[in-house]
Amino acid sequence: PKHLLDFQDWSPERLSALLDNADTMSQVLDRPVKKVPALQGLTVCTAFFENSTRTRVSFELAARRMSADVVSFAAGASSVSKGESIRDTIEVLTAYKVDAFVVRHAAAGAAHLVARYSGKPVINAGDGRRAHPTQALLDAYTIRREFGSLEGKKVAIIGDVRHSRVARSNAELLPKLGAEVVLCGPATLLPRDLAAAGVTLTTDPKEALRNADAVMALRLQQERMDAGYIGSLQDYARQYQVNDDLLAFAPEHAIVLHPGPMNRDVEISSQVADGPRSRILAQVENGQAVRMSTLYHLLVGRQ
Ligand code: CP
Repeated sequence: PKHLLDFQDWSPERLSALLDNADTMSQVLDRPVKKVPALQGLTVCTAFFENSTRTRVSFELAARRMSADVVSFAAGASSVSKGESIRDTIEVLTAYKVDAFVVRHAAAGAAHLVARYSGKPVINAGDGRRAHPTQALLDAYTIRREFGSLEGKKVAIIGDVRHSRVARSNAELLPKLGAEVVLCGPATLLPRDLAAAGVTLTTDPKEALRNADAVMALRLQQERMDAGYIGSLQDYARQYQVNDDLLAFAPEHAIVLHPGPMNRDVEISSQVADGPRSRILAQVENGQAVRMSTLYHLLVGRQ
């Protein structure tokens, strides 16, 4: 595929190759000099119409580690604040000979628009609640590094599933790679239409954790939430917080993930987030290698 907008056009073989290549990128990042010439002469634009820490920094570092030039576009500091449209903005950036776009936007489908207006390879870095494919790839990579394979693994994803592009992308990706996904949360935050092959839904966190190899807590996205989805944060935390009490229902080998940013002591206890089962900083670290692999795949490997 020319783009990574979601996983629709991506075969399991292609996805596995991308994750295999992340191992090579990870070796580059372990060297004293963390730079290879793979993307020399190419320019990557990170076009962020919505805020980010991890995704933006790791994509920019990933591009620079491979010797690409990086244009960092933040909508808040641009002429978007004067009313310029996404189409005009992307056409301006494309005129500067950008070779690929990494796009984050609050509207579902925005990355597809950028692909149409730019004609360049586009990586979706999160569009509304629809998809965040490189987050799912780094989650899959983190689980694969832990257990050697995703085949037959059970991943429990607990929290605000309704507003989560991370949950949607993982529900699309992990079954393609042989894993089983259980989505769990209060009924108001658990859209029934997400059930699919390899994906089940439950409101019971103990059932979700039974036999789970990985437990992913999702942020309560209060900025996207209408009133009434949860009672109080305390009510939510009492039932669904990933803490030591809840983890007692998972196997001892189960690891804990969170895409970040975290609401500590709401959807995950600080003790678990900083504890021995947490792989949250491993996810962050792996994100850079996975994003190097994604950029390489779309800009060089595809040809
Ligand atoms: N997980 C994630 O997308 O984090 P950022 O919003 O900080 O990029």
